[in-house]
Amino acid sequence: MSGRVAVVGAGALGLLATKVFIEDGWTVTTYESRDYIGGLWKDSDDSTISVHATTIFNSSKYRAAMSDFPFADNDDDYPTAAQLHEYLERYARHFELLPSIKVGTKVLNIKRDGEGWQLVARKTSTGETLTEHFDKVCIATGSFNTPRWPTLEGLDRYHGRVLHSIDFHRSEDFKDQNVLIVGMHATAQDVTNSLSENAKHVYLSHRGGLLLLPRYIEDGTVFDSSVNVGVTFVMAWMTRKLPALWNWMVDKILQKASMKAFPVIPEAWGLSPAPSCAVSTPLMADTLWPHLSSEFAEPVPPINRILGPRSIELANGRVLEDIDSIIYCTGYHFSIPDGLVTEDIHPYPGNSLGQPPNLYRNIFPLHPDQSICKSLAYLGHAAITFPGFVQHELIAMAISQVFLGNSPLPSYKAMLNWRTVNLAERQAMIARYNPREGSTFYPVLLNFGDHLQWLDKTAGTGLYSNLSFPLFNLRAWRLWWQDKELYSLCLKGLFTPVLWRLFETGKRRAMPRADCRSMIVRENERSQEQKMRRIASKKLL
Ligand SMILES: Cc1cc2nc3c(=O)[nH]c(=O)nc-3n(C[C@H](O)[C@H](O)[C@H](O)COP(=O)(O)OP(=O)(O)OC[C@H]3O[C@@H](n4cnc5c(N)ncnc54)[C@H](O)[C@@H]3O)c2cc1C
Ligand SMILES: *[C@@H]1O[C@H](CO)[C@@H](O)[C@H](O)[C@H]1NC(C)=O
Ligand SMILES: *[C@@H]1O[C@H](CO)[C@@H](O)[C@H](O)[C@H]1NC(C)=O
Repeated sequence: MSGRVAVVGAGALGLLATKVFIEDGWTVTTYESRDYIGGLWKDSDDSTISVHATTIFNSSKYRAAMSDFPFADNDDDYPTAAQLHEYLERYARHFELLPSIKVGTKVLNIKRDGEGWQLVARKTSTGETLTEHFDKVCIATGSFNTPRWPTLEGLDRYHGRVLHSIDFHRSEDFKDQNVLIVGMHATAQDVTNSLSENAKHVYLSHRGGLLLLPRYIEDGTVFDSSVNVGVTFVMAWMTRKLPALWNWMVDKILQKASMKAFPVIPEAWGLSPAPSCAVSTPLMADTLWPHLSSEFAEPVPPINRILGPRSIELANGRVLEDIDSIIYCTGYHFSIPDGLVTEDIHPYPGNSLGQPPNLYRNIFPLHPDQSICKSLAYLGHAAITFPGFVQHELIAMAISQVFLGNSPLPSYKAMLNWRTVNLAERQAMIARYNPREGSTFYPVLLNFGDHLQWLDKTAGTGLYSNLSFPLFNLRAWRLWWQDKELYSLCLKGLFTPVLWRLFETGKRRAMPRADCRSMIVRENERSQEQKMRRIASKKLL
């Protein structure tokens, strides 16, 4: 027996962590304060964060899935919020996670207790408190908890309704209104879609520069399926060795894709030039586009100040009159719930909201006591530009291997040094690309190649050792010799998440080779079928 692990939160990340820990032999208890699992992917009306009914996932189902649980055939190429929530419920049922999850139970705090942790939780229905002891704790309470409210000069003069997107639920409340949305990214897109059913007009105030991307490329395939394992290795190498050249290339490629999909973007919208993709996330804009081209939604410059009860002055001097409501779609600060942990192990101690987390690899607390670092971990505070949930699943696998003692953490000094280097790299990016404050240059973003290689090694997924540098890699030769079709699907086919389950390295559980092989073949077929379907449906139009 490995010992007892507590997982705090049963959103997508808490669920996959529960699955990974159980699989590695841990006895797991997962606490979820809501009465249901799946976290923000269930459209809820309460004051906690949830998706909007109109939200659509931004990576394709062929790449977004957990490593060993593909999406269903009847899920859309890009799953809707409802499909995603159902998928998470299916995942929990399939891997029999539910007996390990206590819903309606909020964790109040965790404290060091001997070599482990004391966890205090409260049942939301009865108020009853529980105290439990665990060897290890994994915190997956969601990253987006604290709404960001940039200040608007003269807001006290305004008489209309002002709210943050976290409180936006029903577009009926905005019937026939002129609405000003602050911000223009994924959430603004969702809110605009929803408002289009009821509002009169929407202004999207943005600070200039946004790259619009399509969900499908010209030949009909979903946008993210063209990045295969081979390309990913190149990308990993380039982002470590020649990041500036790489970013330049990516910007060129994405600009071209954007121009092909959206050839005429009026200059008056002020979207061009967009900041480099190194420090901003392009918008998958398919569902916003119809509202832009119908002129229901109109991109406008930043807000200068509020002039009166219903009028607002923009940076270019234009005054918008009769604005009935202002909705902030300005995103969130990464944070964790108040009081959950003490300052010395907090990812954002003191006044450091908006800063990169004070964690090793954005996962483990930076603490001189190694036994603390090796028994507490955070999920959802590390990210690379890699589609879907599997990057978080790899983190959960890595955490489990560190907890088990199979993968070591470096010394405290080396961990501090990692953070210093990471912060310096971020500063260099800021100096070079000059991202706007509060942009999608998330403080949790890490170097792609460095993070991926560390995950592969720490989790034990063996992708690098078995596939990288095929010409000079004996293991890659062996795979090629044994099974040429599999070898070629691995390197050049779809980068399906199940590839992370192919190689046995004695760390995380691999799938039985035959099962894994047939899942790889099947996922490649499904992605081919997707392309054919798309081409066929376009011919019909
Ligand atoms: C509107 C929106 C759209 C998004 N779209 C995408 C997308 O297209 N692609 C993408 O990759 N990512 C997207 N994301 C990012 C999203 O954060 C991740 O996809 C992922 O769902 C996060 O899962 P999570 O488990 O970390 O968080 P959550 O789903 O928020 O789950 C955290 C859970 O922890 C529980 N909890 C919190 N505190 C406690 C406590 N003290 N005790 C017990 N339980 C607690 C909460 O109730 C919640 O259920 C989106 C985010 C938002 C807000
Ligand atoms: C998808 O959304 C997540 C969370 O909002 C973001 O971090 C990521 O960069 C987005 N990816 C793409 C391809 O738009
Ligand atoms: C893959 O790599 C690991 C080492 O990282 C090795 O132990 C394993 O045998 C390799 N091959 C296969 C087929 O799993």
